Amino acid sequence: MSRALGQQAGRRHSRSLLRSLAIREAPEVLDHGSDFPVALCKADGARARDADGNRYIDLTSFFGVATVGHRHPAVFDALRTQSGRLLHAMGDVHPADVKARFLREIARRLPAEDYRAVLSLNGADAVETALKFAAAATGRAGVVAFEGSYHGLSAGALEVTHLPAFRRPFAAMLSGRGRFVPWPAADGSDAPAVLDAVRIAARADGPFPVGTVIIEPIQGRGGVRMPPPGFLANLAALCAAEGLVLVFDEVYTGVGRTGTFLRCEAESVVPDAVCLGKSLGGGVPLSGCWMRPRLADAVSRAGVEAVHTSTFLGHPLGCAAGLGVLKALDRGRMLQKAGRIEAVVRARAEAWREATGCVRDVRGVGAMIGVELQAPGGGPGGPLAGRVVARALKDGVILLTEGLAGDVLAFTPPLSIPPRDLEQALGLVERALTEEAATP
Ligand SMILES: Cc1ncc(COP(=O)(O)O)c(C=O)c1O
Repeated sequence: MSRALGQQAGRRHSRSLLRSLAIREAPEVLDHGSDFPVALCKADGARARDADGNRYIDLTSFFGVATVGHRHPAVFDALRTQSGRLLHAMGDVHPADVKARFLREIARRLPAEDYRAVLSLNGADAVETALKFAAAATGRAGVVAFEGSYHGLSAGALEVTHLPAFRRPFAAMLSGRGRFVPWPAADGSDAPAVLDAVRIAARADGPFPVGTVIIEPIQGRGGVRMPPPGFLANLAALCAAEGLVLVFDEVYTGVGRTGTFLRCEAESVVPDAVCLGKSLGGGVPLSGCWMRPRLADAVSRAGVEAVHTSTFLGHPLGCAAGLGVLKALDRGRMLQKAGRIEAVVRARAEAWREATGCVRDVRGVGAMIGVELQAPGGGPGGPLAGRVVARALKDGVILLTEGLAGDVLAFTPPLSIPPRDLEQALGLVERALTEEAATP
C-alpha cells in the first residue's frame, strides 16, 4: 500500500461500497451522480484513509467536527473507559454520573454562571431546544433570522434556515415563523440598516409575533461570512431593548474553532441561549443548548414527565467524549493554535489572489477561513471551486466548499493539525487551484 497522499491505490473498494449504498439508501443522501465520494474507513489526527487505502490530509474536520483531531487520545480513552461501565442511561429519569461531570466542566467555560443545559445529539436538536424554550418564555413563536443562515434541517430548525435549496422540497410544511433580514456587509456600511431591519421585522404584524432572534456569529454554510466588528454587540443591545431572546447558534463556531471556546466571548456578548454541537463530542453525536434562567425556567415538567427530552439525552458516551474534548483543548493548548492556522491559511490564500486572480475574498478567523473564488475574468467561482475540491481529493486533501453558490473554499482543519501537514495540504490545494484556474 502506497504511503504517499492521494488516490494512488485506485477507487475499486470505494466504488463498490458506494454502489451498494446507491441501492439501499434514499437517493437524496449521497451524490451518486459524480465520481467524487470515497468511502472513509479510518481517521487519526488530521489524517484520513479511504477503503482502498488512499491517504488524505483533512482540511474540513469532517463538517467541522474533529476540532481536536480525529480519534484524539483523550476522547478515545474516555470512550474506552465509559464503554466499560455504562453505555446508556435514562437521561431525564436516572441520569448517567458522567453527565454531571461533563456539565460541570463545560459550565466553567461559559460566559455566565447561570446557563442551564438541555443536551441532545445533533446541532439541529440544540436549535430546536432554543426555539421551543424561547417561544415558551415569550409566548411568541416568530423568529428573526438572517439571509444565508443554516441552523439545521429538522422541522423547527428549517423554519429559520434560509438557504433555499434546503427549504424548497419542504415548502409545504414551512409555517412562515422565520422572518429573514439581510446579513450585514463585512465593512459595516449597512450595519445600521440591518439592525433597523431586525427591529422592523420583529415589530411587524403577522400570524407569528416575533420573540426571538437567532444568528450564527460567523455564518458557516452560508459561506464563512463574518459580521462587521461590533455588530453582534449592537444586536444584543437591540434584543435587550426590544425584549427579544437572542440565540447564538455556535454549532460551527463553538468549542474552540475560532480561538476562543465560544465566539460570543470574542464578541463580548452573553446570549440568552448558546447552541453547541459538531465538535462538542469529538466525533460522537453530542449537542446541547445552554440557556439563561429566563429561558431555562420557562418550561416545567408535567408531573413526572420531562416535556422536552429524548431517549438519548445526556448519553454517557457523548458526555464522556465531551469531557475528553475539553481535556484535549486544555492539555493540547489548542485554542492558541487557531491563530497560527489562520495566519498560515491567510498568507497562502493572499498569495493565490496575487498569482491566479481567482480569489475574490479571504475571510474568517482561527481555524474557520473561507476563500471565495471567482472564475478567471471575474465570473461565478462555483464551478472552479468544485473542480479544485475534486482535484484536491484526488491529490490527497479533503476539502469542501460552502456558500450559496458553492464558491467558497472552507478551511476548517483540526486545531491539532501538524504544521507540516497544513503546509503540505495547502501546497496541494495551491497546485489544484493554479492548474484549474488555468484550464478554460
Ligand atoms: C451553524 C449550524 N447550526 C446548526 C447546524 C445543524 O447541525 P446538525 O447537522 O448536526 O443538525 C449546522 C450544521 O452544519 C450548523 O453549521
